[in-house]
Amino acid sequence: MCGITGYAGYKEAAPVLLDALKKLEYRGYDSAGIAVLAAQPLENSPSGNRLFVRKAKGPLSVLSERLSHETVAGTLGIGHTRWATHGEPSDVNSHPHTDVSGRIAVVHNGIIENYARLKEWLQARDVVFLSDTDTEVIAHLINYYYKPESGGGLLGAVLETLKRLEGSYALAVVSSDFPDRLIAARKDSPLIVGLGQGENLIASDVTALLAHTREVCFLEDREVAVLYRDHVDLFTGQGEKIIRAPTHVDWDVEAAEKGGYAHFMLKEIHEQAKALADTLRPRLKETTTGRDISLDEIKLGDNWAAAPRVVITACGTAWHAAMVGKYAFEHFARLPVEVDIASEYRYRNPVTNPDDLFIVISQSGETADTLAAMRLAKKSGARILAVTNVVGSTLAREADLSLYTWAGPEIAVASTKAFTTQLMCIYLLALKLGKLRSRITDADYARYLKALAKIPEQAAAVLAKQELIQKFAARHFNKGKVFFMGRQFDYAVSLESALKLKEISYTHSEAFAAGELKHGPIALVDTNTLVVAIATQTALFDKIASNIREVTSRGAASLVITWEGESAFAAIADEVFTIPKTEDCLSPLLSIIPAQLFAYYCAVQRGNDPDKPRNLAKSVTVE
Ligand code: F6R
Repeated sequence: MCGITGYAGYKEAAPVLLDALKKLEYRGYDSAGIAVLAAQPLENSPSGNRLFVRKAKGPLSVLSERLSHETVAGTLGIGHTRWATHGEPSDVNSHPHTDVSGRIAVVHNGIIENYARLKEWLQARDVVFLSDTDTEVIAHLINYYYKPESGGGLLGAVLETLKRLEGSYALAVVSSDFPDRLIAARKDSPLIVGLGQGENLIASDVTALLAHTREVCFLEDREVAVLYRDHVDLFTGQGEKIIRAPTHVDWDVEAAEKGGYAHFMLKEIHEQAKALADTLRPRLKETTTGRDISLDEIKLGDNWAAAPRVVITACGTAWHAAMVGKYAFEHFARLPVEVDIASEYRYRNPVTNPDDLFIVISQSGETADTLAAMRLAKKSGARILAVTNVVGSTLAREADLSLYTWAGPEIAVASTKAFTTQLMCIYLLALKLGKLRSRITDADYARYLKALAKIPEQAAAVLAKQELIQKFAARHFNKGKVFFMGRQFDYAVSLESALKLKEISYTHSEAFAAGELKHGPIALVDTNTLVVAIATQTALFDKIASNIREVTSRGAASLVITWEGESAFAAIADEVFTIPKTEDCLSPLLSIIPAQLFAYYCAVQRGNDPDKPRNLAKSVTVE
């Protein structure tokens, strides 16, 4: 999730761009850059080129510092703040990216799924690439289609290029041949045009525009905008002109940063449908023989497929993703799995073998206990596969291979979209290993992939029902104790649900494997208790139904999270919240969402700030 911006006006562009990038920095902060069309040809530019590009690894302050020593006069430009996905954070991988002629500069937010094929295609035409990014193909393609000598303009070249891109993009393009305009386009990544007085702007979100204007145009998918200082033209992807009245926004800056949501946590809960799609879709390939999972980035060859055992270690929410992983690897790949809390693993005397597939999960890639566990495993000769959200993090650098969650930066302390995207990566791995190890039939594989492909839209459907959870939370937020229970995959989700609730609402909450109730925890159940049963494992419905009866007969209030159309719990629970039907073994991807919403609304009802829970830090880099 990067942030992009652009300016065409009468003010000096560089400070305007830096200011907008400051507002967008929450979207990514591992590098930043700008391109400005200088008013005069640049020094040392024999071609008379006026494209001034500066970019730097690190937070925006590094770029600002660098720019404070030079001046560039120019009133048109584009800017970018990066959250790395393809290519580690570095000066060269920072945006803007330029074409071989150095005339065209591009900034981009999104993922170009077919970039490897496009890169090969361009390389076969002698194009030399400088970076490891997916974005660079865009600059070279525009140059390829840009034929000023035959009258072909920049807009035509951009439209031709867009036809070849698969994946998501919000992008902005400038060319030194057209110092009066910038071109912007979007598909599946946000982009807003701000309409000012003698100046027009674009940005990934409204926050970056509010200092200049409150009249905006939200670009729709596949639309293109051409911005001049005095007007903006909108086009369809086919180049037909569109007329659209601007929208007036009266959000304050703080609300705008959160996309109109009251808190980052709620915004991130809602971003899950997109984050799941971003993590899944580039890895789900249509082949001539049907759908397949392609994990090219980790070259999951025979070595890994032959591993006799999987070991997974992590902390907190990431450990709960590991727990889901245990069930998933057993189910799909028939592999024995050991799951360990990193702070336990690092101080045990664990038996780790060089041929184990050792997976480490961490959103930040910087958690001290997780890194220590990974280093200990490395000493045993194990090969480390990192599942992380942060390209270039310590974990990503030290692991043998990394599989990235493409959730974008997570600001709220309580992890939500990082968790579901970690699950998505784990499912992809487990399914692929099952296939490579011939532990899964072709028909089952196809069925699971079909179900996986539907998950993003099903997640959106769960989110659309958030009001039901909000109302339920309004009735139960003051319960003294909240217990979550489930069996197998549902037990893993119960663990994560209880953690979410305790960390932001400060309610005493615990998770139990439902079968364990009678071995002790049921003694805690009284009329001040709410029990949330997660019930998606169809074969175990009778068992979990008995557990629900056991707690309600002792005075507990109850909520069941189960499949749409399921009537098994209607008569025995106080409330039933349903999620769209998918395969039982994929349920955690959906069943956690109502629990996240419940935690969020309980925290709000109790007057807590869910984004900044007491005593907790986002990244635990010390012991
Ligand atoms: C809970 C939460 C923490 C983290 C844990 C590990 O909402 O965010 O439990 O999951 O501190 O952090 P990472 O994944 O960065 O290693």
